[in-house]
Amino acid sequence: MSLLLSPVQIAKLALKNRVVMPPMCMYEVHKEDGVATPFHFAHYGARAIGQVGLIIIEATAVAPDGRLTNQDLGLWNEEQAQKLKELVATLHFLGAKVGIQLGHGGRKAKDAVQPIASSAIPFNETYKRPHEMTKEMIKQTQQDFIDATKRAIAAGVDMIEIHGAHGYLLNEFLAPQTNQRKDEYGGTLENRYRFVREIIQEIRQFYQGSLWIRLSLSDYSEPQNSLEEWQTLAQWLEADGIDCIDVSTGGLLDRTPNMPIHAGYQVPFATQIKEAVSIPVTAVGLLDNPGLCEFLLQTNQTDLVAIGRGLIRNTNWLADAAKELKERDFQVYNHSYFRGQQ
Ligand SMILES: Cc1cc2nc3c(=O)[nH]c(=O)nc-3n(C[C@H](O)[C@H](O)[C@H](O)COP(=O)(O)O)c2cc1C
Repeated sequence: MSLLLSPVQIAKLALKNRVVMPPMCMYEVHKEDGVATPFHFAHYGARAIGQVGLIIIEATAVAPDGRLTNQDLGLWNEEQAQKLKELVATLHFLGAKVGIQLGHGGRKAKDAVQPIASSAIPFNETYKRPHEMTKEMIKQTQQDFIDATKRAIAAGVDMIEIHGAHGYLLNEFLAPQTNQRKDEYGGTLENRYRFVREIIQEIRQFYQGSLWIRLSLSDYSEPQNSLEEWQTLAQWLEADGIDCIDVSTGGLLDRTPNMPIHAGYQVPFATQIKEAVSIPVTAVGLLDNPGLCEFLLQTNQTDLVAIGRGLIRNTNWLADAAKELKERDFQVYNHSYFRGQQ
């Protein structure tokens, strides 16, 4: 049996295979109320039928002005929580484990009335200048994360991923180019981590389930956190109770990285984090080739693989992967789907 398609225990989470659907915003909330629609049931349901081991629901905002656009999902009220509960139950019925990514867009919250950020530096000239967060705003936003986490738990999710990547609010605190604060939330690495740390530590007061974080390991621009600093940060995250680090890159700056983008280009970052901690990591980025995924798992470069655009293109990605890996034991959804493979 391939590692890719065989079961695995990731911290507290038993998964039927090592394929993760990473969070991908769909901008499908046309009523702009943050509530999941029939689209989300069909979209995630199709991937659950496709046997994805862990589906991480797209970046879901913890506050109205934390949305990237007004078409994003939200989790700041009970109506949103109730629909999420129905969505999670549906995906469980279809056999998937379900997580949710909780986030705040910070200075990249394009539709926000007044975006907030670690420092008052706009993303580019088309974005509004964010308000540098006061201590009260910091406490309120941390509380928004806590409240959304409680709603996600009540909705029955199997894991929660804190969005610390791609230049959104938490990433803005972690990164030296976007955090120019002079108080205890800026300056040293430890200070820049404080906003994130306080959220994680508070969540760990009441939640013992699976808690992940997504990080952007490179800003493709100097100054940035060094590899050693990211490894130190990963060790702090582990000590503070994070169960898995989902390793991505980029998104902090409005610049296209001057580097070749090729299959697996982000994997070395995941491996370098894996080497520094004892918790598992997830790698992502152009990993559509099942043979490549299997090689990365067999050589211990990552513990899980996330397939984003590959799963948008092909809900049947896992069955196709099984064929390519000559995996006879792979179970499709039911006998009728099995007949569809013949
Ligand atoms: C349409 C789309 C929406 C995305 N939305 C999110 C998101 O909500 N949160 C996030 O962390 N990453 C998001 N991403 C990044 C993906 O999770 C993933 O890291 C990226 O697509 C690279 O993986 P891939 O090459 O397998 O697609 C998005 C990507 C796409 C294509």
